[in-house]
Amino acid sequence: MSEGLVWLNGEILDFASAKVSVEDRGFQFGDGVYEVVRVYQGKPFALKEHLERLQRSAREIELPLPLSLADLAAAAEDLIARAGIAEAELYIQLTRGAARRNHLFPSDTPPTLVMTVRQVRLIPPELREQGIRALTVPDERWARCDIKSICLLPNVLAKERAHRAGAFEALFVREGVVTEGTSSNVFAWTGEELVTPVADHRILSGITRSFVLRLAQQHGYRTVERDLPLAELKSAREVIIAGTVTELLAVIAIDGEPVGEGTPGPIFRQLYAAYRNMIAERVR
Ligand code: PDD
Repeated sequence: MSEGLVWLNGEILDFASAKVSVEDRGFQFGDGVYEVVRVYQGKPFALKEHLERLQRSAREIELPLPLSLADLAAAAEDLIARAGIAEAELYIQLTRGAARRNHLFPSDTPPTLVMTVRQVRLIPPELREQGIRALTVPDERWARCDIKSICLLPNVLAKERAHRAGAFEALFVREGVVTEGTSSNVFAWTGEELVTPVADHRILSGITRSFVLRLAQQHGYRTVERDLPLAELKSAREVIIAGTVTELLAVIAIDGEPVGEGTPGPIFRQLYAAYRNMIAERVR
């Protein structure tokens, strides 16, 4: 199995040879957007949805995509095939290119578009089985969390803080309501409905999130998109996080207090099985 491959502005390279300028605006300003796509059995899952979201993020930061979505999809699929890694993650990053440091947008500077394919960081099976702990942290991010920006410092700090406290994920709380995790969306099962925060500027509208909502509805559960007060999250019967690499995980404790019975519950089990079945059908 290969170590992985890089696509850098149209060139295919190995990781050691792929280099970007020290003046790249992604490096100096965090001036860019990204996507993470899961590859199952050599096939990208929900590539179209991810590329459409990349296009939206790029538009919101006034950065034109250098390729059409069709050409980008073809390049990504070719890279995945060449890398030959069955269970992989495709990372796509678009920045405003390399130019002398100046806050103003540079003129006539081509963007930097990078894609990498690497073996996926698999979630340890025991976490899927036993569930995970979460830590709540103040949401100190900017007011456009709907843009998948590469400026991830608050997410990085929060994840590290959670890890040091023995938790797997940090959940952001803004003005008393839970927004999302550092790289996941959050759901609470109240016993009657599956609640998830509204996909407005406070969160990333997760692709896994939309699949979870659809699957829950197909299984006959009532789903509601609204503010989720922290107290309600803590008293939920079940809490679930969802994201591309995470897939679905049951949250069994928040800030050291058990959620529900303190074990992954039936709604999680049902939705996770449904998610895996859907993927198996799509990548067949
Ligand atoms: N993160 N919220 C945030 C802040 C995220 O960064 C992510 C994904 C999600 C879930 O979105 P999706 O289901 O579309 O992956 C929600 C990626 C995986 C990452 O940064 O690694």
